[in-house]
Amino acid sequence: MADPSFTAQERRAVYRVIAERRDMRRFLPDSTVDPNVLTRLLAAAHAAPSVGLMQPWRFVRITDDTLRQRIHTLVDEERHRTARALGRREQEFLALKVEGIRDCAELLVVALRDGRGAHIFGRRTLPQMDLASVSCAIQNLWLAARAEGLGMGWVSLFEPRPLAQLLGMPADAEPVAILCLGPVPEFPDRPALELDDWAYRKPLSEFISENSWEQP
Ligand SMILES: Cc1cc2nc3c(=O)[nH]c(=O)nc-3n(C[C@H](O)[C@H](O)[C@H](O)COP(=O)(O)O)c2cc1C
Repeated sequence: MADPSFTAQERRAVYRVIAERRDMRRFLPDSTVDPNVLTRLLAAAHAAPSVGLMQPWRFVRITDDTLRQRIHTLVDEERHRTARALGRREQEFLALKVEGIRDCAELLVVALRDGRGAHIFGRRTLPQMDLASVSCAIQNLWLAARAEGLGMGWVSLFEPRPLAQLLGMPADAEPVAILCLGPVPEFPDRPALELDDWAYRKPLSEFISENSWEQP
């Protein structure tokens, strides 16, 4: 059997890619992703864990420019609805860059696939474990993209039904992410929402407790 351990350098690479992954909204226009790299990234996503090994994901690659524009329109409509729902932070939100759909080299829509109701294992009490599984796949893709030197942005500002209809999805499938992928000008060392003064990460200590919810 092959040595199951990782070298110190390999371990550092794993933690480094986790720390240096960023949600990206700014992409180099007119750039491309090598098809072999895209295949590797999708294979990384497909290697994700999933509840009951149900692999509840579907990846739809958008190569039609008109479709890309329609997806952008859907997102922009939701961006304005979200802004209105935010009340006093409406204008501040509208000033944020929250997607890079028109500039990114590759656009992917990730969906929960149809037929999920048949999967009971791990979903009887927690049906949302299918979404958790798809999220694992997206995170794999995100980290692999960063390791390949590519940026990725997860866009969730959309009404799922119109997007599902646009892509001809069956009624029991549901889009959960629009992924913008491609070469980026730079990787900031902090989340864009921190750089834009929208929100700040809290320390790990606030998220850990022992034996009960209450922290000491
Ligand atoms: C489920 C999910 C949905 C997200 N949707 C959006 C989005 O619609 N637009 C956006 O700009 N960022 C979106 N993000 C990115 C987050 O804003 C980002 O991950 C967070 O601010 C932390 O920044 P970082 O990923 O660079 O560490 C999403 C992230 C996740 C995990």
